[in-house]
Amino acid sequence: MSDSASRDQFGSRIGFILASAGSAVGLGNIWRFPFVAGENGGAAFVLIYLLLVFAIGMPLMLSEFIVGRHGAGNPVASLKRACGKSFAPLGIMGILACLIILSFYAVVGGWTIKYTLDALMGSLGTDVASAGKAFGGFISSPFSVIAFQFLFIAVSFGIVVRGIQGGIEKFCTIFMPVLFVLLVVLAVRSLTLDGAMEGLLFYLKPDFSKVNSAMILSALGQAFFSLSIGVSVMLTYGSYLKKDEPLVGPAFQICLLDSFVAFIAGLVIFPAVFAFGFEPGQGPGLSFVTLPVVFSKMAFGGFFAAIFFFLLVISALTSSMSMLEVVCAWVTGEHGWSRKRATLAVVTVAFLMGVPSAISVGGGLDIAGKSFLDVMDFVASKVMMPIGGIGFALIGGFVVSGFAKEELPERIYSVWRFLCCVVAPVAIGWIFISGLTW
Ligand code: ALA
Repeated sequence: MSDSASRDQFGSRIGFILASAGSAVGLGNIWRFPFVAGENGGAAFVLIYLLLVFAIGMPLMLSEFIVGRHGAGNPVASLKRACGKSFAPLGIMGILACLIILSFYAVVGGWTIKYTLDALMGSLGTDVASAGKAFGGFISSPFSVIAFQFLFIAVSFGIVVRGIQGGIEKFCTIFMPVLFVLLVVLAVRSLTLDGAMEGLLFYLKPDFSKVNSAMILSALGQAFFSLSIGVSVMLTYGSYLKKDEPLVGPAFQICLLDSFVAFIAGLVIFPAVFAFGFEPGQGPGLSFVTLPVVFSKMAFGGFFAAIFFFLLVISALTSSMSMLEVVCAWVTGEHGWSRKRATLAVVTVAFLMGVPSAISVGGGLDIAGKSFLDVMDFVASKVMMPIGGIGFALIGGFVVSGFAKEELPERIYSVWRFLCCVVAPVAIGWIFISGLTW
């Protein structure tokens, strides 16, 4: 079934860049990147990470854009049209992965809304024990977690139902610049605290003795997953791009913005954590337990805490709406449903799929020692994304290289093709095999 007629399109290049950067910039950038960097040799990690973003992430992003723009349809239709019928399963896998990620992303997105409201009302904890107790109490109360998960997915629905130009592009054009500005405001606040230097050194002091295969794998994994590569998100956004728009410049800018946010997030977190004498913990514990306490020690801390959690809300929304769009594009394109009906159906399914994840974080719904949410994350991020990444690398190098030759500048084309045919498949294959431990 054709779905290319009368499709919505991005209205401007900047709208396309900000929407794609919004998809890439997510919770992973703001709280995951800084820790991985801090633990893996600081500046040494950041340098290797940047190299991998541009040597592997960007070529794959270009492959997805090329397939999407030539296919001008949802992932399955685009892959069939641009590459041939036998490539449709790659699109189906991407759609499924987006649905799975959306289901648990909305759970954590709900936490960020709850914490923004708590910060505004001044009810965040002021010491680690009370903040930890409050966080533990919240995540083990299924009713509250599910209510905020519902709220988060309802907001995503409200944006995506308005379409590409009127919904996603408009939201990202307003809120991505807001995110960049607020992040810089927080970084300045954090870097000007007494004692900030220790945190800065922890984060950025280059420690080249930590460069080993495990560290490179960790940088590759972070780069790859942060850019939302391999699950047809960039393919779908590329399918809404006008035919005469360049691809290389925007792909470069999207990678740059994604790396910028990840890097600056570290400049927000570490100087503040060290300035107040806290231990740099990991994951949700740091964002939802340590940071509220760190903010409570600052002058106007409630205000800065609200900014921080609001940033997390925006970053989570701009990523979740891209995954929602992938699935909606498929439902409207393949089944002829209206956008409203498709969006409603997809958020309902994603919400219901997310309920076990919402319940699991407070304990009680484990599979082989992992919470249901972690299992969903494992399946989507560690299995489906790498397989999709290898698929798009090989498609770029061997299937759509003819289109690419017309679209990419000559010198860039040769480098891009080599990266797609050789470097990316080998590197991703390596992450896949070595990173696949339960
Ligand atoms: N790319 C998004 C993130 O980093 C999904 O969170």
